Amino acid sequence: MAPRKIIIDTDPGQDDAVAILLALASPEDVTVMGVTAVAGNVPLPLTEKNARIVCELAGKPETLVFAGCDAPLTRKLVTAEHVHGKTGLDGPKMDDPTMPLQSQHGVDFIIDTLRAHDAGTVTLCPLGPLTNIATAFNKAPDIIEKVQEIVLMGGAYFEVGNITPAAEFNIYVDPEAAKIVFASGVPIVVMPLDVTHHALTTRPRVDAFSALGTKVGDMVAAWTNFFERFDKEKYGSEGAPLHDPCVIAYLINPDLFEGRYVNVEIETVSELTLGMTVADWWRVTDRQPNAMFMGNLNAEGFFDLLTERLARL
Ligand code: RIB
Ligand code: CA
Repeated sequence: MAPRKIIIDTDPGQDDAVAILLALASPEDVTVMGVTAVAGNVPLPLTEKNARIVCELAGKPETLVFAGCDAPLTRKLVTAEHVHGKTGLDGPKMDDPTMPLQSQHGVDFIIDTLRAHDAGTVTLCPLGPLTNIATAFNKAPDIIEKVQEIVLMGGAYFEVGNITPAAEFNIYVDPEAAKIVFASGVPIVVMPLDVTHHALTTRPRVDAFSALGTKVGDMVAAWTNFFERFDKEKYGSEGAPLHDPCVIAYLINPDLFEGRYVNVEIETVSELTLGMTVADWWRVTDRQPNAMFMGNLNAEGFFDLLTERLARL
């Protein structure tokens, strides 16, 4: 089967970085048409710089990297330096990138790419707040029906929130954008905290990254060692959840995941539950299902795949 054409929309973030590496290491499964940065974990000037750092680390400086939106549709930006550090890629020392940032705005790249390709042939992979995607849909509604699928990391149901008691970070930062995306009618696969919290970087798994004996393996181990301190302290978990790589792993091997096709609505009014993904998991309403909401992961298979692919870089 031909590799899936994808656009990665991202706010690197250590876990975003691992997702980008996994995608660039898997040309038989995905063709990365471009990487569009969005403000999220850290402000846009850092997320676009980090996206370029990661593409160079992967040995793919020809990758097209774009800067997208620097703030949510209507709200003030909320960032997550407390998790990812000041640079967004804290842990190892990182050299500044030398590859160029594309001059086109990331939103216009998304629009032009969807217009230039046959309907149903380009998949969007948002790994951060959905601002770029919603802005593209607002600016060019004609592209909505052309999107093959959206496979995103965001939301939570049984796992509840990680930035507020009710909301997961990516959705919380721009709930209005998420509402637009979930109401768009595009086929959506959601990787919520319910599934990403099964992708924990236990010590043997981090040691497997280091055992690769490559710069990529060492960087990923250093990122996870930094990134995991927050989750271990908060959840008492054995390692950090590798949220964003779940999106790319799904494109490579969807059988690693189990979920349910349900209705998911986004809270945009109540300050108490702002950004909550209200998943009708038990189908207690007559709301139309609009998303494949993942709930379980074959974690061993996920880390075997991730480590095998990172070894290629
Ligand atoms: O809540 C986890 C998500 O928020 C991940 O995508 C992480 O990178 C941050 O963007
Ligand atoms: Ca992210």
